[in-house]
Amino acid sequence: MQPEVLYTRNFVTDATTLILAAADVAYAARGRFRLSLCGGSTPREVYAALAQANDRFDWPNTLLTFGDERTVGPDDDQSNYKMVRKAWLESAGVPATSVLRMQGELPPAEAAQEYADQLAAQAARDGDGIFTHDLILLGVGNDGHTASLFPGTEALHEIRSLVVANEVPQLQTTRITMTYPLINAARQVCFLVNSPEKQNLIDEILAGESPYPSARVLPAHGRLTWLIAN
Ligand code: 6PG
Repeated sequence: MQPEVLYTRNFVTDATTLILAAADVAYAARGRFRLSLCGGSTPREVYAALAQANDRFDWPNTLLTFGDERTVGPDDDQSNYKMVRKAWLESAGVPATSVLRMQGELPPAEAAQEYADQLAAQAARDGDGIFTHDLILLGVGNDGHTASLFPGTEALHEIRSLVVANEVPQLQTTRITMTYPLINAARQVCFLVNSPEKQNLIDEILAGESPYPSARVLPAHGRLTWLIAN
């Protein structure tokens, strides 16, 4: 399926609208919403806008997951969870039971296995063979990475595990990340891009045949959307 590429001058509004529309569809179709959040700086304002739309979420039937996490605790400034908690969860009073946090404070392989096990248990409760997100939000790094799927790293080759610990030599760290099997099982994946300097990179990715990890996000049965601020 060809990606839908949406350019916008109202990035936060349009991203919020897209996410809430996905929620509406999910609640109507299945009575539940599974949304994966990305880290980085791009989505912060979007999360803050979602905190103002709390009435659109059925929290007992909603699960927020994380596409990746740094190997730090939840109060570390590097933590994606902390960014989301500050931008959205705390101000909206999102119940902890609606958030599945990657435990970056654990040994990375243990944290990854724990997360994969939690997703598998939830998938069984959902009646899904594999945990199936209604929407996965992703960012793109300047090197073409997404989640913590960085160029030249082992996680790019993972075809079985849904979540792994991924050593990232170029950052001299290890990250916890969702893998392509989980990402590409989603009903919709949306890249959020709000940095004009990434346009050449995005053009290469959209042209196909690029070496970038982001180019390998190709939902098997779902929609692929690019929301790009211009
Ligand atoms: C992270 C993200 C990462 C991010 C990109 C883009 O943990 O940092 O998951 O994949 O989405 O690096 O980051 P910006 O939005 O800051 O450009």
